[in-house]
Amino acid sequence: MTLAYAHESTLEWRKANRAKAVAGRTITAKIKRCEGPGKPSRWESFKVEVAPNENVISLLQKIAANPVTTDGKTSTPVVWDSGCLEEVCGACTMVINGSVRQSCSCLIDEYAPRDGDTLTLEPMSKFPVIRDLWVDRARLFHSLKRVNAWVPIDSTASLGAGPREDQDTQSTRYAISECMSCGCCLEACPQFMLEPDASEWDSAFIGAHAIAQARLFNLHETGKNLKDQRLDELMGPGGVSDCGNAQNCVKVCPKGVPLTESIAAVGRGVVLHSIAKFFRGK
Ligand code: SF4
Ligand code: SF4
Ligand code: FES
Repeated sequence: MTLAYAHESTLEWRKANRAKAVAGRTITAKIKRCEGPGKPSRWESFKVEVAPNENVISLLQKIAANPVTTDGKTSTPVVWDSGCLEEVCGACTMVINGSVRQSCSCLIDEYAPRDGDTLTLEPMSKFPVIRDLWVDRARLFHSLKRVNAWVPIDSTASLGAGPREDQDTQSTRYAISECMSCGCCLEACPQFMLEPDASEWDSAFIGAHAIAQARLFNLHETGKNLKDQRLDELMGPGGVSDCGNAQNCVKVCPKGVPLTESIAAVGRGVVLHSIAKFFRGK
């Protein structure tokens, strides 16, 4: 299935659909189900009565209360992940009518505004399925470990006030810090492939989110103590040079993280770092 991106025209289309949403309509929810890791998947459909302004999670809750398919079979409640229910944790991310979205903030009206419409739900394809719409995002967090995406502090004692930072750097860092590790950018990226075997993770493409976080912490006055290690990792296999510049990532990021700008900035940093290493002889 082709992913749709949050272009201006897509946003207008979603808004127009919201405006024509019909109260008390019945839609078909077509859901990709899977019993567990490595098991085959299958589609099941459910008829559900919905009202305007309901989110996709409320649809899944209605199915859980009465999991009877359109052909009359009693099934099991659909499994999905969630934490915050307010587009902060990223856990509920799934593919909704071909668009990778958070199911807590996605309104049914945007994709199925009329009576008889179909809403299709699938798990993200770049992460192993745990069950139904719930995926294992461990590799996403492993990528953050690869670039030491934290500020190194080796004491719990008070270290006093941190270093000051200028307003421009603070603004840049703030935009990147909005990342919620949802995985949308990885789902949309043609360079980021499903690698269920963890032994492949260190050499496979690290992903736009981790490159942006490396920039975030390299710009931090204390975080930059690990700058060289981060750039070393991004110089290696699966690093920044594996990005094909397709720019899908930035189009689907729900938080507007400046991903392509960050990839370009980190790419320049990696080049300067490798030249400096060459002249240092290490
Ligand atoms: S710009 Fe790079 S990271 Fe973003 S989608 Fe394209 S290949 Fe992936
Ligand atoms: S950069 Fe955006 S799309 Fe990627 S993980 Fe962070 S919030 Fe999600
Ligand atoms: S439940 Fe946290 S983003 Fe949806």
